[in-house]
Amino acid sequence: MVDGVADGVLRLGVLASGRGSNLQAIMDAIDSGELPAVVACVISDRKTVQALERARRRGIPAYHVPPRAYPDRPAHEAEVRRILDEQGVDLVVLAGYMRLFTPSFIEAYRGRMMNIHPALLPNFPGMDAQRQAWEYGVKVSGCTVHFVEEGTDAGPIILQRTVPVLEQDTPETLAERILVEEHLAFPEAVRLFAEGRLVIEGRRVKVLSRP
Ligand code: GRF
Repeated sequence: MVDGVADGVLRLGVLASGRGSNLQAIMDAIDSGELPAVVACVISDRKTVQALERARRRGIPAYHVPPRAYPDRPAHEAEVRRILDEQGVDLVVLAGYMRLFTPSFIEAYRGRMMNIHPALLPNFPGMDAQRQAWEYGVKVSGCTVHFVEEGTDAGPIILQRTVPVLEQDTPETLAERILVEEHLAFPEAVRLFAEGRLVIEGRRVKVLSRP
């Protein structure tokens, strides 16, 4: 069983490299009472990104941890881990974080780190997934929230939401419609975790019904 948090509110550590619209969707779901969690901190590898601004506007601790300030990837990750530990983070949320992790970081957060990807995995992993799907000519795409394991956008799938690809779509319009679904999918996946309703069984994630 993946633990929600028995004693107190689930503390999220959000890692983001850009716009932060998924972070915003999660904060909005918390505000509206749909998501029993708090954003304990936001960490970015980039300095001037909207994600950090969105956090600061709410008084959420927001950290810029520049990779170049550290000798190597493990040293950079050690600082990220230090902050996550210091902030008592229960669940790491990757919301457009553009860096890959070492196996040891992935191991440290196995079963308690989620990512969102703008395609129906295992199709179109990696960068520019919406364009990949559009260029391939699929008729349906969407988004996937999954636990993080080694491998690009790999890991057991928690939930997916679909989006039809329309005749008049461009990669950009498709991405916009997928983003609408991302903003529903991510808070929902985090809520299921918070409620202790996700059970990882190998590659499969079982979603328990409400008690
Ligand atoms: C989203 O499309 C997400 O699926 C991908 O990166 C993008 C982040 O967008 N992993 P935002 O920063 O949350 O607005």
